[in-house]
Amino acid sequence: MEEKIMYVSMKEMLWHAHTHRYAVMAINCVNMEQAKAIIESAEEEHSPVIINISPRQLKAHGYGYIMVPMIQALAKRASVPIAFNLDHGANFEDITQALQWDFSSVMIDASSYEFEENIRRTSMIASLAHGMGKSCEAELGHVGLAANADGQNVDYFTNVAQAQEFVERTHCDCLAVAIGTAHGAYPKGMIPQLDFERLKQLKEALNMPLVLHGGSGAGEENIRKAVACGINKINVCTDLMKHAKEALIKTLADEPDIEYMELNMAVEEAMKDFIKDYMRMIGSSQQYIFEQHDGPELD
Ligand code: 13P
Repeated sequence: MEEKIMYVSMKEMLWHAHTHRYAVMAINCVNMEQAKAIIESAEEEHSPVIINISPRQLKAHGYGYIMVPMIQALAKRASVPIAFNLDHGANFEDITQALQWDFSSVMIDASSYEFEENIRRTSMIASLAHGMGKSCEAELGHVGLAANADGQNVDYFTNVAQAQEFVERTHCDCLAVAIGTAHGAYPKGMIPQLDFERLKQLKEALNMPLVLHGGSGAGEENIRKAVACGINKINVCTDLMKHAKEALIKTLADEPDIEYMELNMAVEEAMKDFIKDYMRMIGSSQQYIFEQHDGPELD
């Protein structure tokens, strides 16, 4: 049987999610424990998954020349599709370097520029990525920071008519939309209010995979509704990092003499529990169960 390559771009993965109306997790990852937790969770849930890393994370800790071969090695053994995406690529240097390292996808975030400049930058990166067989995510409107209450600033929300023109002119493969979420932790007790009406209009007008950034702390009801209204990729960073840190603190408190390796393994297990629950919530679980058989194709 022909070997299936499971290190893929986000394009087919997200069109499958768009067609079958579910969402794929895109999880920020900076080390081997996280990469293993993400890919093992995806395998156990028969779910596709996207691994994200930002330029800041790449420069500070999870260097590209380490992360790419490691994720490719893990993906090669996987039975579900795995994409590795540069999260929030802001300049050409970071993006071309990620493409050279063989990321399977890149995001160009020119959302702080005015419309025409966002189009100019995004279309350039989209054609570069496509020429190398990789996918390109873009952002229109602006998903800012929870700490600045940016999610409540309607001036940042994605305009539907502009989005249609943006996608036609840039040929991006998926679009991150601003509908009320923001990056990072929200103030204690706050659950953001999302503009689902706008999201439905965007889905209807664009008929393509849509992305929600700032998935952490958005609340289960909002996340479920966002998927039902057309979100196909949900970025999660803060919640997983927090969950991992809490597991680390609890394990050390419960077992102060635990060995370092065992500690890492305990944190990895805790991350898997979080990720698998999330995959079930957003409907990506069991999407690849039928890809597992070894027998001949029946049709
Ligand atoms: P959170 O840290 O709020 O989950 O946001 C992650 C994200 O959107 C990365 O692009």
